[in-house]
Parts: sequence; structure tokens; C-alpha cells
Amino acid sequence: MNFSFVSDEISTSGALVATVFEGGKLSSTAELLDKSTDGTLRRAIESSRFEGKVGDVLEILAPSGLSNSRLILAGLGKLTELKATDLEALGGRLYKDLAAKGEKEVSVIMDGLTLSNTGEASLASHVSFGALLRSYKFDTYKTAKKSNGDSKLGTFTVHCKDTSAAKVAFDDLAKIADGVFFTRQLVSEPPNELYPETFAAQAKELESLGVKVTVLNEKEITDLGMNALYAVGMGSDKESKVVIMEWNGSPKGGDEKPLAFVGKGVTFDTGGISLKPAAGMEDMKFDMGGAGTVFGLMKALAGRKAKVNVVGACGLAENMPAGNAQRPGDIVKSYSGKTIEVLNTDAEGRLVLADVLSYTQEKFKPRLVIDLATLTGAIIVALGNDIAGIFSNNDELSEQLTAAGNIVDERVWRLPLAECYDKLLDCDAADMKNIGGRAAGSITAAQFLQRFIENDTPWVHIDIAGVAWSTKEKPVAAKGATGFGVRLLDRFVADNYEG
Ligand code: BES
Ligand code: MN
Ligand code: ZN
Repeated sequence: MNFSFVSDEISTSGALVATVFEGGKLSSTAELLDKSTDGTLRRAIESSRFEGKVGDVLEILAPSGLSNSRLILAGLGKLTELKATDLEALGGRLYKDLAAKGEKEVSVIMDGLTLSNTGEASLASHVSFGALLRSYKFDTYKTAKKSNGDSKLGTFTVHCKDTSAAKVAFDDLAKIADGVFFTRQLVSEPPNELYPETFAAQAKELESLGVKVTVLNEKEITDLGMNALYAVGMGSDKESKVVIMEWNGSPKGGDEKPLAFVGKGVTFDTGGISLKPAAGMEDMKFDMGGAGTVFGLMKALAGRKAKVNVVGACGLAENMPAGNAQRPGDIVKSYSGKTIEVLNTDAEGRLVLADVLSYTQEKFKPRLVIDLATLTGAIIVALGNDIAGIFSNNDELSEQLTAAGNIVDERVWRLPLAECYDKLLDCDAADMKNIGGRAAGSITAAQFLQRFIENDTPWVHIDIAGVAWSTKEKPVAAKGATGFGVRLLDRFVADNYEG
């Protein structure tokens, strides 16, 4: 799709979108359109339930007096309450509805948007961003593609005053979208195609953006002593990998300690010898969602040349049952030196993360560590499919993340960590066991991870098991991989750690 920002004559072809505030107050352009259509707009509003609330849309086909195919009124609610995400949702909605109707061209007229906190240009860019995000489709394996080039919605124009500022704002957002799409693509890939080696190879794509990529193979993994991670992949014919991605964008250069993002990359989780039930097991292709988000985040940050030093570290393994798979009862010595009794081979994500967390802290001495993982089914029981769970040893950090999530509409909710949960991991045979029992499953998983966080490292764990994949459409995402976390963390970095 071709995105542009213009301030001159409004388009006489395709769909024309004018905005209306709550109570039916027309924007100045909408007033003009009402005049040129002989009052059609007002009459249409009167004969419908359209009130101009956020999300209200009214479509007038073949409006007389205009040569456009359709005239659409979009409600923006109260000007003082309007958020960037409302405009993204509008862009997403327009893309979805109009592409389905075979429309080829859309022009959105943004006027009357002069807010003190968010400029008109920035708001205009978010309409386009929403349309862009919603346009992503994973169709790599469809041999008969439905829409060929000609019949696609190809032009998305936003009319606003400060077009050059809108363009600059959109260029950054488009880089973030590149990151989101990278994550969605990785998470959507089938597990026969995406396994540790092919997943790691995808990181190489980031080198052209200036990211330094290092891939550790199984020999290096075992030589280093990452035995907990290695044990997870033992039953698989595919070699496990660790991928390290470094982006040094800080004006201070390499002296500044990096922010570290750590991802769980289990490319398929059968449960191992503690085998999962067959029904729904195909979902476990998205058990690499944490790593997928870290890959997408690195792409977004490097793409927009973020002024910060960041390291992304991902543990990639396939959890399979086999004669050489790890067994319930095995005791492994982790990279940190701590020993773990593996009582359930399906609690594998924490084993992968433990070693990558320790290695990352030791090697990079990061300012903070944020890990992402599709870690527990229990987080879906607790929070459902719209809000991710966070766990942290640092109040300021969790507040920063919560604030960023609210701004971009990728929300997170903090759950507690406490000694009473930690002790559920105590073990007779080893330093700890890898499961804490049925109660508080997401918390005991987080407590397990915390045992691998050095005391003074500010840390957040984000459990994205409920939000990485959606069986329902979202305002700015089709069904399937959501890319959750890329916008959240990009915003978290931009608002707190750049400049
Ligand atoms: N990958 C799963 C968690 C998961 C479940 C992600 C549903 C996405 C959707 C994880 O490895 C797992 O199997 N966790 C177990 C932990 C249990 C054995 C302590 C779980 O949640 O049941
Ligand atoms: Mn599992
Ligand atoms: Zn898993």
C-alpha cells in the first residue's frame, strides 16, 4: 500500500472519509462536503444511529454531487479524549472494511485536530499506521493468492495541515510496523519450516540494518555449560541455538550499558516426555513468540535508528519426546551453576530462559533485563487474551512498562512475586525443581526465573502466552500472530531510555 500525506485538493475518486465529533459536530471539511452533496451528510446522520462516538462509522454509497465511490463519516468522540490508538483503530477499520469491498483508494480528511499534547501531524500519521498494521497478512503458503496487484487497496492518503511533520512521524511508525510484521511472520511460520537453525538464520536479515548477530551452536552451548537449555532440545533432531543481537545506537557509543531483552524460542512444544494432549497441540508452534518479539523489536529499533544500546538474546530449542529426550526426574546443572530437578519436561521455557538470562547478565552487565515468553497456560486463566502478565523486582520499571502499554494499547498487568511462592520451588534432590504445583502457576514460573536474576539487575518478566496469538480479529491485526510486545517495548525504550 502506498501512504501519502497531502494538504491540497481532496481526492475526487475512491472512498472519502470525513471526521465527526461526538454530538454530530462536523469537521470543517465535512461541512463543505455536506454542502456539495446538498445536505446528504446531515440527513444520513439524522436517519441513522450515528452519534460521532469513537468507533462510529457511517457509509454513504455513490454520494450525489461527488464523484467519489463512497463517503464515510468516522466518529472521533470528544476531541479532548481522543487518543492515537483511536485513530489507529480507525485506520485499521477502514483498511479492513474497504479492502474487503474492493475499494482501491482511500482519502481520510483530518481537520480540526489541534490538541496540545499530541500534534495534528502525529495524529494523522497514526491513522495510516493503523491501516498499515491491519494490512499484514500471512499468506506465504497459499499457492492461489486471492488478490492480485490490481484489485488491491493500493493508495491510502491522509489530508492534514502539516504534511511534512506527518510524513516524518509516519516514517518512524513504518519502521515499527516492519518490526511487528517480522514478529508476526516468524510466529506464523509452521514448525516444520521454522526450527532453531532456520529461526537463527532469520536474524541475519538484521545485519543489513547494522545489528551485530552472533549464533551459538550446540557445541558452544554445551561448552559454555548451558545444560538446562541444552536438555530441552535433546529429544529433537534439530540442533538448539542461542542468538545474540546487538544494536549500539547510543550517542555515547559502546560505553553505555545496554538494555537486554531475552526471549523464549521453543519452536515447537510437544511437552516432551511429559507429553501434551493432542487437541490444540498445533498452537505450540507459537511457543517461540517471546523470541519472535525480541527479533521484531530489534528490527524496529535498528530500523528507526534508536539512540540506545540494546542486546536481544534468545534461546531456541524444540521440545520433543524421543529416546534421547530428557526425562522427568533428570537433574541438570544450569549455566549459573545452580542445579534443577526437572519434574515436568513440559515446564521447558523456564529452563531455556534460565541459561540465557544468566549468560546475558554475565556477558553484557545490562542496565536492565526484560524477558518475554509464552510461559504458562495459567496466565490465560488469570488474564485472558488481551492483557499480558508482568512480574518484576523493580517498581519503577513495571510502572514504565505499564504506562507504555496503555499508550500503545498493548496492556500489561503486574502480578506479585513473594517468598511464599518462591519456596514452592525448593527441592530435596537439587537446588530447585522446575514446577511449583498447580496453584499460582504463572507466579511460580516467574519465581523460577527470578532465581537466575542477579540481585541488583532490574528485571521484568512478561508472560505473553495469552496475547501472542489471537483467534479473533483485533483493531489493528487480523486473526493469528499479533506481534504483541514490539510496540510496547519500542515505546518503553523511546519514552525512557533514548536521549
Ligand atoms: N508453552 C507452554 C505454555 C503455553 C500454554 C503457551 C498455552 C501458550 C499457550 C509451556 O511450556 C507449558 O507447557 N507450561 C506448562 C507449565 C506446567 C507444566 C507447570 C503449563 O502451562 O501447563
Ligand atoms: Mn511446555
Ligand atoms: Zn512451552
